[in-house]
Amino acid sequence: MDLNAVLNDYKNQVENRINELFPESDVKYRSVIDAARYSLLNGGKRIRPVIMMEFCRLCGGEPNVALDFAVALEMIHTYSLIHDDLPCMDNDDMRRGKPSCHKAFSEDVALLSGDALLTEAFFIAANAPVAHDKSLKAISYLSSNAGVHGMIGGQALDLSFERKNPDAVALQDMYMRKTAALLIAAASIGCVVAGRDDEETLKSAAKYGYNLGLAFQIIDDILDVTANEKVLGKPTHSDEKNNKTTFVTIFGLEKAFAIAAQLSNAALDALDEIGGDTEALYEITNYLLDRNS
Ligand code: IPE
Ligand code: IPE
Ligand code: MG
Ligand code: MG
Ligand code: MG
Repeated sequence: MDLNAVLNDYKNQVENRINELFPESDVKYRSVIDAARYSLLNGGKRIRPVIMMEFCRLCGGEPNVALDFAVALEMIHTYSLIHDDLPCMDNDDMRRGKPSCHKAFSEDVALLSGDALLTEAFFIAANAPVAHDKSLKAISYLSSNAGVHGMIGGQALDLSFERKNPDAVALQDMYMRKTAALLIAAASIGCVVAGRDDEETLKSAAKYGYNLGLAFQIIDDILDVTANEKVLGKPTHSDEKNNKTTFVTIFGLEKAFAIAAQLSNAALDALDEIGGDTEALYEITNYLLDRNS
């Protein structure tokens, strides 16, 4: 299987649909739209959309059925990155290889463009061309995993931990919220819109998102220390600058990677539980463990 071709194909579909659903505009308040589109279309691995669409396929649906929810999730993810980079949060000046939103525009516009992406994401999800019982469930997954007990809660914990020294258990809970939650949403929504939403499948999808998400954040922590800044597209040593406790500061690079590899294997086990043609998801999972950006 040519993983790059698969990833590029999904990426193109998602970016074309973003342009249709969230186009340029010449309204008087266009700076907010320009800033949101600047961040949204500024590269990015699109890993959450890819996982959602592949889960949809795995569960017997056309990947396209999940496309608008994939766009919505990528918009929510992008908003989280715009806000994450703000001076009051991680204060990082680069994102996806270009100046962060608040650097390219201004702090106030960046703040509002994040708000815009979050809100428009739900408009897009609500209007997705699928049966309403499916879109309601998908919207429920989006809101609960992005919300106060999901990504937002995780980001709040992340900031509060700059002044504390969390242990590995507390850190794992924070990663589950700030990073794994959106991956749980991606996998679960893929199943739901494909029409395979029995309890067992959804449990395995959540197990996949949870384990992949933890592994993903640990690798992100490792790359913060080891990556080439140009390749990474965002500042390295941001965690040290912000006094963050990470799996790297607790366990060291080697052990942290071993833990990520274990979690990644648990994610593969979850795929086995679902069964079917898991080849692409297997390769995506392995690629994310070995990624350099
Ligand atoms: C970065 O996410 C934020 C984390 C949750 C670690 P990604 O690594 O998916 O960022 P993009 O979308 O590819 O830029
Ligand atoms: C990202 O954690 C979590 C989000 C929900 C945005 P990080 O703060 O480590 O992400 P990067 O390294 O800035 O992408
Ligand atoms: Mg952060
Ligand atoms: Mg950050
Ligand atoms: Mg990071």
